[in-house]
Amino acid sequence: MKIKVLGSSAGGGFPQWNCNCWNCDGVRNGTLNAQRRTQSSIVVSANGEDWLLINASPDLLAQIAAHPELQPARRARDSGIAAVVTMDAQIDHVTGLLMLRERDTPLPLYVTDAVLQDLSTGLPVVSILAHYCGVERHAIPLDGASFTVPALPGIRIEALPLSSKAPPYSPHREAPQRGDNIGLTFIDEHSGKRAFYAPGLGALEPHVLEAMNGADLLLVDGTLWTPDEMIELGLSKKTAADMGHLAQTGAGGMIEVLDSIERAGVRKVLIHINNTNPILIEDGPERRRLAEHGIEVAFDGLAFEL
Ligand code: MLT
Ligand code: MN
Ligand code: ZN
Repeated sequence: MKIKVLGSSAGGGFPQWNCNCWNCDGVRNGTLNAQRRTQSSIVVSANGEDWLLINASPDLLAQIAAHPELQPARRARDSGIAAVVTMDAQIDHVTGLLMLRERDTPLPLYVTDAVLQDLSTGLPVVSILAHYCGVERHAIPLDGASFTVPALPGIRIEALPLSSKAPPYSPHREAPQRGDNIGLTFIDEHSGKRAFYAPGLGALEPHVLEAMNGADLLLVDGTLWTPDEMIELGLSKKTAADMGHLAQTGAGGMIEVLDSIERAGVRKVLIHINNTNPILIEDGPERRRLAEHGIEVAFDGLAFEL
């Protein structure tokens, strides 16, 4: 199983277009040891030619251009992106769907019922796509059953519901539904290896910890360093919890959670990193602290073979 990080940043990207925080300013001006990152997405493949896109970010076209393996050019009109999963209905995970409209066949789209509802109402990209290529919708099971995608033979996928919030434009924003947000485990049936991906992880419920403990690769919520980082910087009124994210530091934070996972050989990688997060500074003390805990920070183009 091959996994590639297309976009390792949270919504907004790094640098964010209108942001002049220490990090954004520093990466823009080249005064900081940090690298640019596009918005949240990975791809998974069994054969290195047919890929499942997990989250379609607003940066999708740039991400495709940056990864030639997504452009096998087997026909006049062709893409290595065989199908798409979106893990929630957030802007940073779904607006790229509109960029796939030139397909000549309906786009295979794997989403939960809750996400499909949002993508047909509050942010109706599925309804809009009906006027172009259309969508071939596949339901993601939430009962623990795994599902497969024809283009990825030998890979099974398990979805787990996460407790978080639907986006602000969701008709059920104040009435959370199972399936508003999911985590995914990719299982390679030949190697037996498992990768767990959850760019948004608000609470570590027992079923989430169980999935994390069984994984050989963890690609998990790296949005914020402290719970009130955005407030401290005067950039937002929302805490990490308000945003449905678990900060890295503090009691019960992601560092502590990852420390509790002791599976031999497991790789622990933070992904979906907000532009305010000091872990973006490659030679900073926060990055050193992560390294002491065996935790890596994802970057665009990071690849895994499991
Ligand atoms: C989030 O996960 O909180 C998002 O990145 C927010 C957004 O896309 O605006
Ligand atoms: Mn996001
Ligand atoms: Zn910034």
